Amino acid sequence: MNIGILGTGEVAQSLGNGFIATGHDVMLGSRDPNSDTVKAWKASNGPKATSGTSEQAAKFGEVIVVATVWSGTENALKLAGPKNLEGKVVIDVTNPLVFEEGKPPRLALGFSDSGGEQVQCWLPGARVVKCFNIVGHQHMFRPQFTGGPPDMFIAGNDDDAKKTVTKILSDFGWPAIDIGDIGGARLLEPLCILWVNAGRRLENWHIAFKLLR
Ligand SMILES: NC(=O)c1ccc[n+]([C@@H]2O[C@H](COP(=O)([O-])OP(=O)(O)OC[C@H]3O[C@@H](n4cnc5c(N)ncnc54)[C@H](OP(=O)(O)O)[C@@H]3O)[C@@H](O)[C@H]2O)c1
Repeated sequence: MNIGILGTGEVAQSLGNGFIATGHDVMLGSRDPNSDTVKAWKASNGPKATSGTSEQAAKFGEVIVVATVWSGTENALKLAGPKNLEGKVVIDVTNPLVFEEGKPPRLALGFSDSGGEQVQCWLPGARVVKCFNIVGHQHMFRPQFTGGPPDMFIAGNDDDAKKTVTKILSDFGWPAIDIGDIGGARLLEPLCILWVNAGRRLENWHIAFKLLR
């Protein structure tokens, strides 16, 4: 498949590496498609790795990944063009975080709304699935933990879109747990804050969640 990724940061690159390793073609979409960061990522990934504007990546992708800082996400989606994403599976990895000097990050919104729901509102014709937001980018592809594979929770309104994402997760080494519609992002985004606070206290960022039965 062709995968369009909005963003060029650690998440975009780690997921891009995973998609390429599993046989897909990836375009990173950016306001600066020729930045040194993008050039280095392309050089280490060969011909399956390309870059373009956000709009080009949105048109290129059969599946789209949103991997932008929360404060730039609405703008990135405007640049991508909601029409270019109509009907497509859109994997929302963002966490709606506010960063303040000397404090751990906190959620910009919650309880009665979520980043996932906002992304779905900004892209009314797309099939948004919240996924990958509860773990550090280093572990998004083929996570290796002594306790076995962690679980990935997903949320979205479209069952077929969640099937597509579940297959991607399986290829990436993750069991998926579907927690329901996109409103489930209200539960998944606070898990990021839990992950950050646990990581700080444990002084260990190689942590992930698993549902024991
Ligand atoms: N880092 C992790 O391990 C991790 C794990 C789970 C979830 N997340 C979430 O995943 C998302 C990406 O995280 P990240 O650490 O890879 O990168 P990041 O530093 O949070 O975001 C970088 C990307 O945001 C884009 N961006 C910034 N301002 C923008 C604007 N005004 N308009 C359009 N685009 C803008 C940049 O695009 P350009 O290329 O155009 O500059 C850049 O590619 C975040 O929401 C984060 O909370 C991160």
